[in-house]
Amino acid sequence: MTYPVNVPDRARLSRRTLAALATALAAPAALRSAPIAAQADPTAAAPFLPPTPECDDDDSDPTLAQTEGPFFTPDAPERTDLREPGLPGEPLSLAGFVLDDACRPVPGALLEFWQADAAGVYDNEGFTLRGHQFSDEEGRWALETVVPGLYPGRTRHIHVRAQAPAGLLLTTQLYFPDESANAADGIFDPALLVEWEETPSGEPLRARFDFVVEGAA
Ligand SMILES: [Fe+2]
Repeated sequence: MTYPVNVPDRARLSRRTLAALATALAAPAALRSAPIAAQADPTAAAPFLPPTPECDDDDSDPTLAQTEGPFFTPDAPERTDLREPGLPGEPLSLAGFVLDDACRPVPGALLEFWQADAAGVYDNEGFTLRGHQFSDEEGRWALETVVPGLYPGRTRHIHVRAQAPAGLLLTTQLYFPDESANAADGIFDPALLVEWEETPSGEPLRARFDFVVEGAA
């Protein structure tokens, strides 16, 4: 993986749906009724996130759904920082918006993340590198984590669930540009690539992704 530190202007990949949503699972009642949780201002945690979404012609397409995989664990804690003391790995800041199919921000959307550690290992006993959060009143989310490691058969990825209040549950995965293992991964889809942001020297890696969810009120 070539880290894009100080890359000045990477091309922005438009979101687009390459296939119809394969699954749109009904959400558990507990998730549908989840309140908007107080959380740190995502623009403070991710200063590269603009105050409002940037919409273009492709922004009405729902984010592509992908397989959940075998390593989801329910009841992960609510937190925006998945890192824990002593956890090795390249720090990574991810942020973006949750939008509806009209490119309107979705407040209070559930976002759940889980990933392998830097060595490519999932914590299937506890909640290391697992957590959920809710988008803020402007539909923004932000996550502090580490770059996930590789494990056999897969390219580098982060698993995500995203769901508007009372909306359909989107299960998908995020990928990284310029990753040599992308091409050989049968699940990888370029529609789900994060967009690297310019990163000042010495600062953690930063990347953007906006989710488009269905069924938002
Ligand atoms: Fe995975």
